[in-house]
This record gives sequence, C-alpha cells and structure tokens, in this order.
Amino acid sequence: MLNYFLPPHIEFGDGALQNLGEHVKAFDGKKPFLVSDAGVINAGILAKATDALEASGNLSYATYSDIEPNPTDISVTHGVDVYKAEACDVVIAVGGGSVMDAAKAIRLLTTHTPPLEPYYSDVGGAGRIRGDMPPLICVPTTAGTGSEVSHGSVITDTSLQTTNRWRKRAIVTPFNMSNIALLDPGITLGMPPALTAATGMDAITHGIEAYVATRYHPIAEGVALQALRMLSANIQQVYHKGEDVTARGEMLLGSCMAAFSFQKGLGAVHSLAHQLSTDAPIPHGVANAILLPPVMEFNFSHASEKYAKIARALGIDTRNMDIDEAGHAAIEKIRAYNTALNMPTGLGEAGLDRGKIPKLGADAMLDHCHKFNPRVCTEADMVDLFEAAF
Ligand SMILES: [Fe+2]
Repeated sequence: MLNYFLPPHIEFGDGALQNLGEHVKAFDGKKPFLVSDAGVINAGILAKATDALEASGNLSYATYSDIEPNPTDISVTHGVDVYKAEACDVVIAVGGGSVMDAAKAIRLLTTHTPPLEPYYSDVGGAGRIRGDMPPLICVPTTAGTGSEVSHGSVITDTSLQTTNRWRKRAIVTPFNMSNIALLDPGITLGMPPALTAATGMDAITHGIEAYVATRYHPIAEGVALQALRMLSANIQQVYHKGEDVTARGEMLLGSCMAAFSFQKGLGAVHSLAHQLSTDAPIPHGVANAILLPPVMEFNFSHASEKYAKIARALGIDTRNMDIDEAGHAAIEKIRAYNTALNMPTGLGEAGLDRGKIPKLGADAMLDHCHKFNPRVCTEADMVDLFEAAF
C-alpha cells in the first residue's frame, strides 16, 4: 500500500504576507500564536507579519521567539506553555526550518500530552498522533528547508533517554503538514548571501536525494526534477543579486517543491548532516553541500541513470555523453556550485573535529534518512563518507 500526501494550500506571490489575517479569520481564529526567532525579528519580518494581522482588524495575537537554530524539546515545551497561557487558537510559523519545525511540535503538544518522547518516529510515534490540532500557517523566510510542505519536523532531544548526548530526532506524520504555506519572495530579499547559499544547497540536496531515494513515488520524482531545474537556474543569481524578486520566487517555490518531493525519502547526506548540527558548528545546508559530492560518488553504481537525468535538470547538455559521463557531470556541477558559492572545501575547514568522526558515523546509522539511500550504508561507510568529506 502506498500513501502519498499532496501539499497544503500554497499561496505564492510578492506581497502574499499581506493576506495573513484573512487566512486566520478563514479558520475562525481570534488569537494567532506567532512563532519566530531572533533573526526573523532583527530582519523586520515578524513586524511585517504582525502589521498584516493588525491591518485586518479584530485580531489580537501572541508571539514566541525563543527558538534556537536547532530547536530543542525545551523551547518547544516553553512555547506550548505560552500558547496555552495566551489562549491562542491558530499557530503561525514565520521563519526558516528551525522555526517551522518547532512550531509544528508546539502545535502537536497543544492537544497531545507532553513530553515529546512518545511522538518521535524512531519509537513509532506516528501511531500516537491524532489530527485534532490547531490550524498551522507557515511563512518561510528562507528558501531551503521547505518545512512548510513537509510532514516531518526535526527536534533536538535533550532528554538523554536514547543516547548519552543531545540528538536530533524526527516527528513524522501527515498531520504535521501545514494548512497553508504563504510563499512571499518579497520577505526573502534581504537574506544574506551565505544564508542564501546554504539554504539553497539544502534545497538542491533535497531534490537530488529524493529523486534517487528507493521509495516508489512517481509524483515526487517529477516534482523533484522540476525543483532542481528551478533551483539550479537561480541559485547563483540570488547569491550575487539578492534583490532579484523573480529569482527569489523561483528559489522559494523550488525549495517548497523539493521538500514536497522528499516525502519519497532522503538519503545518506541527511543522515550524516544531521549529526553535524549538534556536534559541530556547521549549518545544515553547508554540511549538505560538502557531503553531497562524496555521497553521490558512493551511490554512483546504484544511481547512475538517475544522476544522468539530474545532470539535465541541472542544465548540463548531456547529448554527447553516455550515462556514466552524464552522471559524473552532475557531481561535478555540485562541486562547481560549492566553489561558486564560497562553501568551505571540507568538513575540517567548516569546523569539524576529526576525532569525533567514529562516534558520528555510529550515530548516523541511527538516523532514518539513509534507509532510503539507493545504496545500503554500513557504519564503516558512514565513517568513510565523513572522512571523504573532511
Ligand atoms: Fe535538509
């Protein structure tokens, strides 16, 4: 039996944020709960969201912005306390992946008994999650994670119940999907180049890993390729010319589509990268960008035909290439993006302590993403991939 989840209502366009209040009212909401973080506040984007709510009249709201870059179960629990104390009725996430993932978990615990522990996917949490949750409106402020249309959220578990250190764990359920994704490229214009590059490479990694993931999902495969066409055509433009609202819009929609496609599965890149955000100061998108070429080399014998198709989606003229040549050209294109976007040349330069690699390799095996990788990964493979990317 196959289960495919189509995205929620997506409203896309420069100025879409202005309609926020009308969407809240359409859910019969009286007091939305806005989740954001310091970066969103400093960029002036939360103020734009609250201005939009005030302009629509008859709406009060509460805000919660204590969300750290890799959101913990602690900040989620605090958020639930504020939501309940303020008697809110709709959740609005205004931010990047961390904010949206935290908002999903907060929304879950407004109607499900805390703590988060029984709801993580690695302990069969999906079976304990019901659909009776408040509406969720996601306003992504970066073009990368696509959490606005994914049915997962990743939370850093501080409870130490599974390992002896904090660990990223996923909550995966179709009920995690937002009700509305408001995609407004106008609010992404001020995103700094380094963040633009990292989040853009995260989106490209989603498209590539999803396209070659082992689950049968032809809808997601088609969307992944179109996402890669849009992302590859615009990533360098938005890096150098951030005020190009058309290119920003293509990146925002492309990242949304790539995230929709990864319900087909992700792969080893994400299992490896998830370890680095808790044990090294490496942003998720940067970790993905560095790990993607060595993982593609590792997968090559199991995915060359698909890599050849990815090469075409990345804009490479493959007409005079055989399948292997085209597949390798796709890997070289990723390396060329990393150079053009000034990514670190390896995980060492990015800040990883090499001595941690054996432990991180073991931990990567606990992450569910690699289960859909086209080539089966062992712990030794994970260690080798970290070394290859070092
Ligand atoms: Fe990602």
